[in-house]
Amino acid sequence: CDQCGECLYQKPPKESGYDCQWFYKCMRCAFLTIRMVDRGGLYRRYPTDLPCLVAAIRCGWANRSRRYAIQVFPSLCAFVCIRNVGIGKAVAETVSEQGFKPKHILVTGGCGFIGANFVRYVARNHPDVHITVLDKLTYAGNPANIDGLPRSQVELVIGDICDASLLERIVPGCDAIVHFAAESHNDNSIFDPEPFIRTNVEGTMRLLEAARKYDVRFHHISTDEVYGDLALDDPCKFTESTPYKPSSPYSASKAASDQLVRAWVRTYGLRATISNCSNNYGPYQHVEKFIPRQITSIMEGARPKLYGTGENVRDWIHTEDHSSAVWEILTRGRIGETYLIGADGEMSNIAVMRMILRLMGCAEDSFDWVRDRPGHDRRYAIDSSKLRTELGWKPVHTDFEAGLQATIAWYIDNRAWWEPAKAATEARYRAQGQ
Ligand code: NAD
Ligand code: DAU
Repeated sequence: CDQCGECLYQKPPKESGYDCQWFYKCMRCAFLTIRMVDRGGLYRRYPTDLPCLVAAIRCGWANRSRRYAIQVFPSLCAFVCIRNVGIGKAVAETVSEQGFKPKHILVTGGCGFIGANFVRYVARNHPDVHITVLDKLTYAGNPANIDGLPRSQVELVIGDICDASLLERIVPGCDAIVHFAAESHNDNSIFDPEPFIRTNVEGTMRLLEAARKYDVRFHHISTDEVYGDLALDDPCKFTESTPYKPSSPYSASKAASDQLVRAWVRTYGLRATISNCSNNYGPYQHVEKFIPRQITSIMEGARPKLYGTGENVRDWIHTEDHSSAVWEILTRGRIGETYLIGADGEMSNIAVMRMILRLMGCAEDSFDWVRDRPGHDRRYAIDSSKLRTELGWKPVHTDFEAGLQATIAWYIDNRAWWEPAKAATEARYRAQGQ
């Protein structure tokens, strides 16, 4: 790089309209240059011109708040922080309204809990975006989760993210991949880690390779669990700079997948972003997870089950707020950046358990204590300031009790959706003493 001396140039994405030129961005300091062949047959580097910079910003490749060298007149070069110049300001405003506008997205794991809620969110709010869902339909995936959406807008491909030849067929033509597919349940990963490594690590690598080959924007859905846990009385929360310290095979596999994404950004210049979200709740969540397990057990007349001492704290967010945050990051987030998603919803498991029992008309102590999860993380807590200040995102579902009440109502109204999975799930838990 002419500015910082690092040799980390990256080629432009197709959307910039500059793929015919030798136009590079330094991955370290974001300095933009154009390389052209001059008449003597030598490569020369020139600072980029303003339209070229605008194109780079429009497609999300250049960052508005950094300094760039631009060519004002053929011979005059200036360093410009686009926010601070009159003309730049006007350009920057147009750009921030426009952002990255995908027309065709590939959503992996779109028949799972959060993926399906995201597909519904995009279908409802962005009817011009075509969505291809790629889902293997494991025990956690259910095509009914995306029932009722227009077929002209949402298409389901049943398949495995580890299948490179399938990806060869469906990735070209997509503007972006939003990657939700995963083995997602901690208890299952403790019992059998292997599928977690295959889907979460190998599957992510296959998708990254396809995204690289076809120059497709990539958004990786991850979890706050990659940071390990916090003490119950720790005043701190997780931030984007908290060191990784995963505890379970599940969170270790997610941590590995995050690091793969970072490596693909730095080494290959992949246009990717990462989000790490806290515990989601809402409709379509599998009955193996804490909140739906307790609601559906109470509905069946069984006593709900609390692990360990019940003091563990989770930071709850409604899945619709997760969806809106992912959309903001995909369309306006900075390439290569990580954003933490959370809604300030910290609650102990025992408090949530008591709230569920009360809202369902039961005595608050009518639950059983069961064997604790090995290596059980004590507390998760997200500081989402970066997402809120940089992209202006905020959650809508800020009343947890109201959200929980609506979730209970959803499980009461949709018994046919969860009942087929309940008996087998409980049998698995019983075998583990939980
Ligand atoms: P889920 O288990 O409900 O759904 C996972 C989906 O992925 C299912 O539809 C499943 O069929 C599909 N899938 C699994 N393996 C696949 C494969 N090899 N190929 C294609 N599809 C496959 O999970 P979820 O709770 O909706 O979580 C979705 C994502 O969000 C995961 O990446 C998870 O790590 C992350 N996350 C979850 C939470 C949470 O609270 N549930 C919080 C933060 C992040
Ligand atoms: O923090 C984000 C993570 O949240 C996601 O990455 C995971 O995919 C998601 O499953 C979730 O992980 P948790 O392990 O926190 O969620 P789970 O619903 O399994 O459990 C929530 C808490 O409730 C946890 O402390 C364990 C406890 N628990 C769980 C079950 C199923 C119980 O006390 N009783 C139960 O029956």
